[in-house]
This record gives sequence, C-alpha cells and structure tokens, in this order.
Amino acid sequence: MQNIKIPKKLIEVALPLDDINEACAYEKMPGIGAHPRGIHLWWARRPLAAARAILFAQMVNDPGYERSMGRGVNKERAKVERERLFQLIRGLVKWENTNDQNLLAQAREEIRKSWQETCELNKAHPDAATLFDPTRVPAFHDPFGGGGALPLEAQRIGLDSNSSDLNPVAVMINKAMIEIPPKFANKEPVGPIQKGSSQGRTIQFTGNQGLAEDIRRYGVWLIDEALKTVAPLYPVIELPAQYGGGKAPVIAWLWARTVKSPNPAFSHIEVPLVSSYVISNKVGKEAYVHPVISGAAYTFEVREGKPPKGAEYGTKSGPRGANFLCLMSGSPISADYIRDEGKAGRIGMRLLAIVAEGGRRRVYLSPTEEHELVAKSAQPTWKPEVPFFQQALGFRVGNYGISTWADLFTSRQLVGLGTISELVGKAKEKVRADASNVGWPDGDGLADGGSGAIAYGEALAVYLAFALDRCADFSNTCTRWVPGNQKVMNLFGKQTVSMTWDFPEANIFLETVGGYVPAAKYVADCVETLPWNVSSGHASQADAANNSITCCIPDDCIDENRHPLFMARAVLRELI
Ligand SMILES: C[S@@+](CC[C@H](N)C(=O)[O-])C[C@H]1O[C@@H](n2cnc3c(N)ncnc32)[C@H](O)[C@@H]1O
Repeated sequence: MQNIKIPKKLIEVALPLDDINEACAYEKMPGIGAHPRGIHLWWARRPLAAARAILFAQMVNDPGYERSMGRGVNKERAKVERERLFQLIRGLVKWENTNDQNLLAQAREEIRKSWQETCELNKAHPDAATLFDPTRVPAFHDPFGGGGALPLEAQRIGLDSNSSDLNPVAVMINKAMIEIPPKFANKEPVGPIQKGSSQGRTIQFTGNQGLAEDIRRYGVWLIDEALKTVAPLYPVIELPAQYGGGKAPVIAWLWARTVKSPNPAFSHIEVPLVSSYVISNKVGKEAYVHPVISGAAYTFEVREGKPPKGAEYGTKSGPRGANFLCLMSGSPISADYIRDEGKAGRIGMRLLAIVAEGGRRRVYLSPTEEHELVAKSAQPTWKPEVPFFQQALGFRVGNYGISTWADLFTSRQLVGLGTISELVGKAKEKVRADASNVGWPDGDGLADGGSGAIAYGEALAVYLAFALDRCADFSNTCTRWVPGNQKVMNLFGKQTVSMTWDFPEANIFLETVGGYVPAAKYVADCVETLPWNVSSGHASQADAANNSITCCIPDDCIDENRHPLFMARAVLRELI
C-alpha cells in the first residue's frame, strides 16, 4: 500500500444521509410503478438510490486538504465544494431522476475528474500506464451480485460493471439487468404482432423499448401456442341468468385441502380444511361459501350477501393454528392428525368455489363436478421431483408430507407451468428465426459475447423464463385468496413457504393476476426502466473466494482498512 496514493473519498468524510434515507423509503413504497427489481424476485434487495449514492461517494474524492498528498482545498472551500457534491447526490437519489441523463452526465464527470486527480498523484507508479490510465475510469465488480442493485447502479454512473454470484439465478438476474439490455438498445422489435392487439403502437423504439416490446409479443405468442394443447384443461363456465348467462372464462378455482374424518363414523369421508368461507368482504359485493350436508355427503354453495358469523373461520376450531372441526361430525381434527395424514400422502383437495369473469364484474359461483374432474384429470409429463428441504427456517410445509418441489403444485399447475416452460425453449428458436428474417446476422450466443439473432433469442428466453417464474409464485398451492381485494396473493410475500388449507388456483392463461401474459408484460415494463446508453455489463457465476475478476486486482491496490466495497456495505446497512 506504500506505493499508491488514494485520496480520501467523499464516503469516508460525509454523506447526505437523511436525503438518501428518504429516497430509499420512497423507493420501497408500493405503487411507484415499474422498477428493475420486478424483473425477478431476489432476497435482501438494496434500494437503488442507496446503491447509487454510495457508489458515487466512493468514486469521488473528498475535496478536503490532505497534507500527505498535497491535494484538496482549505476547510471553508472544502465545505462549499462538499455541499455542491451533496446537492448532486440529493438529485441523483430521487426516484424520478433515476434515468435523468443530465444529472448522470454530471455524476460521470465528477467521477472522471476524481479519477484524473488520482492518476496524476500516481503518475510515478511503475505500473501507472495500466493501473492509472486517466482516460479509463476503474471498472466495478460485485462478487456477491445478488439482485444486482450495486452492479446496475455502477453501470448507470458510467463504470464498466461486473457482477458475479454463486447462485445461478442471481447470475441470470444480473445478466438480465446489466449485460443484455445495452446489447440490444435502440433495436426494433422482431416478434409477431397479434391480430387486433395494441402491441407495437410505439412507432419508434428507443432504448429498451424494442426489447420490452418483444417480451410482450412473444409472451402472447407463447400463450397462444400453449392453448393449442392445454385449453381443454381450462374450461369456461356457464353463467347463471342472473349474471347475464353465456359462457365466462374462469379467473380462479378456489380449493380446500381435505383429510379423512378422524371420527370413526365418518372415516370414509374426506372432510375439508377451510380457513375461511369468505370469498369477498367488499361492502355491497360480499360472497361466501355455504356448506350443505346431505346424508353422508356434503356440497358447497356460493352465496351472495353478508357472510354469517363464524364464516371467517371456515372449518377451523378457532382463529389460531392448524386445528379444525370435522364438517360432518363436529369432531376435532388436530394439527398432529393432519400432519400424520399428510405424511401418509392422504391429504386431498375439493373444489370450494369458482371465480369467473362476468362482463365488468367478478362473479362467484358454486363448484361444479365437471370443473373438479377436469382439474384432477391433468397429467403432467414432467414434474420437479427434487426433494424439498425439510428443516429450513420458514419452510414448514414438509410437516404435512410435502417432500418434493412438485408437491407444491396441483397437477394442472404442473401441466400449465411445464407447457410454458417447454415453449420458452421454442420461443428462443422462433426469436432467432424472426430476427434472421429481418436481416439480423446470427452472430454468437450470449455466453460468447454475441449480440446477433442467436444472442437475441437467448436473451428473450431469459425474460420469458422470468415471467414464468413470476407465474410460479402465483400458481402453486401455497398462495392465498384475499377476500378484501378478491385477488390471488402470491406465495413469496415474505421469505417463507407456509402451509395453506384453502388456496386459489389462478388461470395462468387469462389476462388476470397470476396469468402468464400479465407477468410477461410486467417484466417488460420493468426492463424498460433499465439504463441502456451505458457502458458494458457482465455477469458470471463464480465463488467470491475464488474468481478471476477480483483476484486480478494487484495487492498494493487493496487497503484492508479502506476497502470501498466493505465501506459501501457498511453504509448500506445503516441506510436500510
Ligand atoms: C445479500 S445478497 C446480495 C444483495 C445484493 N447486493 C442486492 O442488492 O441485491 C448476497 C449474495 O451473495 C451470494 N453468495 C453467497 N455466498 C457466495 C459466495 N461464496 N460466492 C459468491 N456469491 C455468494 C448469494 O447467492 C446472494 O445472492
């Protein structure tokens, strides 16, 4: 460390923390619109504002005087200069300024000036030509890239950005955020415009708009293809006259898990485990399920109007825990009994209600035998039969016999997700062919740095697969139906996989919450928010302890007490 002079960085002296915190809090609010984090779920995401601020502040030299290096200005002037840099940070962190080219140009200029000062101080270093080239600002590397906040912001403020992670999903997220978009910036979309679709309304495609448009177009193409084989599994429903009659598409099927009654007199009957009978508690549009017992059998009827007292507890024996009452006998069904039945593979499911699209409103209908049979007839040709980890924190479903990832899905969900998954591979080939047809050269694949038709096919496949992952979050048996907004609530609202007793099965082929096309559109909207007129980005899979990017930094560049990445992480922890 003796040979290298590194001026004190702004981050080592002061930061406008209140402003950064405020911007971070704003960025975390729901309803701020499309955000790069929506491209794919990842844990421990840092707000982009914090990442941007701390990266800028560790690239920019503090203006204060440093006698040892003979640099900087006196106290009063340093204060004024610092305030000027703070003002720039205050502007940079605002959500609405995320892609403000004027502010970003100012930030890049400040970084360039600081780098030139550092190069000047080190011009006598024996390796100055390679280490201190004033025309090339240093590149950035996050060896724990995760959700990509730091690599993305490094790229935005003008650094060549490298991200690596041990987890291949994180690597794909980083590729989707920093590597792919700049390669295809300002390109026209190549995908097929669906008849009567509003897609392609944009006449001129700038930035990531062409790429985003193709995610939407191929999302629609993919669903049209899938429906050619799986449509019979997603039947429409006959609407009663009071709802206008005719056939209506189903938004979701609401299911209840079942166990054999523990009461010996009813032990041949599979009784429902229902945590609530309430389907809608919206004032004026209330609906609920009413169980009807007839002899040794029961059916469910959906009724409109205020739910009766106790309906909010379904067949539970109280508001807490997995304790229920047998619908037929009133006998208690203990959590232990349910666990044992689950482990013996004897938990079943029974259709509780059907939510359909009735013109301008949602319609709640009683289950039909036909709909139940169709769902249960689904035969997936492939399942993720990978053992589920039984002891992980927050993953309690193993207690109930869920032993592989496949067990988290209904057969129909497995068919739907599996069919789309296969089509993502076909979409990759179609994108390549469509791009070739409009004159794109084939070029190399993404892994070899390509940016032609082959690489574009692979790029689209990444985003289409991410849209499918989003669907999987909504299309599994651990989702919930929310009577307040009458929508499917995805599984990963928090970082756990918790057991559900009743759950909605969203129609993945419909333009509604949980559908594939809305998921593709959502991913596309988020892609549009990514910077595109930026330096190159690169993401790779590597163990941080042993990777070729960090390991090539010369030892005398690393000051254990002032390592900028560790400083960044320390400050971020304070901010969140
Ligand atoms: C907390 S996350 C990073 C969050 C990220 N900075 C962001 O803002 O989204 C930590 C990441 O480190 C990765 N990781 C853990 N051990 C690793 C190792 N030995 N090498 C590389 N990455 C590792 C994990 O996969 C995870 O993505």
